[in-house]
Amino acid sequence: MKNILVIGGAGYIGSHVVKMLKTQGYKPVVYDNLSTGFKESIDKKIPFVKGDLADKTLLKKVFRKYKINAVMHFAAFAQVGESVKNPAKYYQNNLAKVLNLLDSMIENNIKYFVFSSTAATFGNPITKTISETHPQNPINPYGQSKLFVEKVLKDYDLAYGLKSTVLRYFNASGADESAKIGEAHKNETHLIPLVLQTALGKRKEIKIFGTDYPTPDGTCIRDYVHVNDLANAHILALKYMLKNNKSEDFNLGSSKGASVLEIIKKVQKITGKNFKVVKDKRRPGDPANLIASSKKAKKILNWKTTYSIDKIIKTAYQWELKRKY
Ligand SMILES: NC(=O)c1ccc[n+]([C@@H]2O[C@H](COP(=O)([O-])OP(=O)(O)OC[C@H]3O[C@@H](n4cnc5c(N)ncnc54)[C@H](O)[C@@H]3O)[C@@H](O)[C@H]2O)c1
Repeated sequence: MKNILVIGGAGYIGSHVVKMLKTQGYKPVVYDNLSTGFKESIDKKIPFVKGDLADKTLLKKVFRKYKINAVMHFAAFAQVGESVKNPAKYYQNNLAKVLNLLDSMIENNIKYFVFSSTAATFGNPITKTISETHPQNPINPYGQSKLFVEKVLKDYDLAYGLKSTVLRYFNASGADESAKIGEAHKNETHLIPLVLQTALGKRKEIKIFGTDYPTPDGTCIRDYVHVNDLANAHILALKYMLKNNKSEDFNLGSSKGASVLEIIKKVQKITGKNFKVVKDKRRPGDPANLIASSKKAKKILNWKTTYSIDKIIKTAYQWELKRKY
């Protein structure tokens, strides 16, 4: 059970998982349409297929050629604001095309699926930390599109025996320590790369959206989890699913929060650079706190995070200094 098709493997999180799969003796095959990903993020020795989720014929060929045992699915659009303006784009790519993929898997008798889901499926938190049992009421089409797939997966397990692991990431961040791969989004919206790029003079200022939240410094608090800790969780979850032949879901975060202002101060300290910080008004749909409870992943998968927030920023900084794509 070592042949893993990684759909969206040329993206930020996928490329780190591909690297770790290879290091741990798996045979990953990357399938990606490069809409937001980069071919440079994949080692040339790893098979790469340029293709879209919608292409059932190509998927079938790839499943057979590489004798695929399980699929890890990272391919999605993931910008909350864009999803509000253009929900059709999100429901097409993140939901309709995934149904197509799942049907192809069933037709080709592939029964194991790992799905990248998100904290955005929960909506506004009603508890201090968010566990797997927290109600799921997404407040934007992006979160909604992911929640739909989660529901489909439950039905497909019951009806077709398709086993899945849903991994809900909080704020994926940091980069591989080689600095050869890292966070590369064509239209960057994530805080840490934006602040680092401002520190490096690639952006003229960093905006803080809201300084009057009910948090100690008035700015939003998020849970940052290093991308290689996430990659490790994927491999542990895959092993668990294959061994127990059972569907599961896990929330993946560090269970600690850092505020926007704290991140900015840490970047100033780590880079030794000062830059323009602009206080702006709140954005709609930003909860004050989003912090995971990852007790379930710790208990069942024996997963733990190994990167502190300082180390996350340091690896992200090295990537920003050396990045080639
Ligand atoms: N980055 C985060 O903090 C975060 C947090 C929670 C969840 N997620 C989820 O994790 C996954 C990966 O996120 P990322 O930050 O690595 O994004 P990314 O944009 O870097 O990677 C997505 C990859 O999927 C590919 N892709 C998209 N649509 C495709 C299609 N129709 N067919 C084939 N390939 C396609 C893209 O080319 C890209 O390489 C997404 O599903 C996202 O929703 C990310």
